[in-house]
Amino acid sequence: MTRALTMNTMLSPVMTARNWARKTGRRFKKMTPASHNDDHPERHPVWWMFDRIARRYDLLNRLLSFGRDQAWRREVVRGIPRGADLCIVDLATGTADVLLAAREAALPLRLGVGVDPSEGMIALGREKVRRLAASPPLHLVRGDACALPLGDACADAITMAFGIRNVADVDAALREMRRMLRPGGRALILEFSLPENRLIRWAYLLYFRHVLPRIGGLISGDFAAYRYLNQTVEQFPYGAAFCAKMRAAGFVAVSARSMTFGVATVYEGVSPDLTETRPAGGP
Ligand SMILES: C[S@@+](CC[C@H](N)C(=O)[O-])C[C@H]1O[C@@H](n2cnc3c(N)ncnc32)[C@H](O)[C@@H]1O
Repeated sequence: MTRALTMNTMLSPVMTARNWARKTGRRFKKMTPASHNDDHPERHPVWWMFDRIARRYDLLNRLLSFGRDQAWRREVVRGIPRGADLCIVDLATGTADVLLAAREAALPLRLGVGVDPSEGMIALGREKVRRLAASPPLHLVRGDACALPLGDACADAITMAFGIRNVADVDAALREMRRMLRPGGRALILEFSLPENRLIRWAYLLYFRHVLPRIGGLISGDFAAYRYLNQTVEQFPYGAAFCAKMRAAGFVAVSARSMTFGVATVYEGVSPDLTETRPAGGP
């Protein structure tokens, strides 16, 4: 299947920031974390939180995961279907580590688009992309995973690392992923989970609840952000419960692969080709 897919065709015209500015008569201006409050009163507090911690985000990821976080992202990239001219969309892209891992794996990418609502995070991501990746083209845009500014069936794979837990409506985000995937395309979602083994789980929770928030708070200067991390992870459905959510959103061949004693899990789901199941001569 040949698709003339460019950044312009992927971005639905009504949803681009420039169009939004034209429609609402608001002027485009460089936003700072402080200005978010005035311009976007609806902005979720989580987005401001990521703006605040962006500067120390990568360092803390490496430190607090003992360097495992990049291996987990590589596992996501390994799940991307092979094929020529791939278009991948990375949701909650943050500082673009998943897109950069895809580039490092030398996937035959035509286009990689990262979407994230935090200006602070994608500003750093853009800087990394500029420094490291001349080709293939990687673009980072502002957007909410629950209402994506991208066209239908535009992606061969959609990735999301440590982002699904942060969205306001998980089911809506999963439906958006399905809408954007071409039939047969794959969603790969990496999220924290909890170890099944009781002893390992006890030790992990000791670290996760008491050590990690203190180190994260000290280095980022934002104690609330790293308390938010352990609280949201402990409340978020994982394993079979998350697989059930993916199936409810319409994904098939759903599976979960847990890593590092179950501390993180990669979920995979395929967007079904509905034309294949339609009876011959049917509507
Ligand atoms: C823990 S970071 C993960 C960043 C990156 N994927 C990584 O692997 O490091 C979570 C990201 O989710 C983003 N986020 C929060 N709410 C979101 C939403 N509704 N839609 C998309 N991204 C969101 C945050 O701005 C933040 O960059």
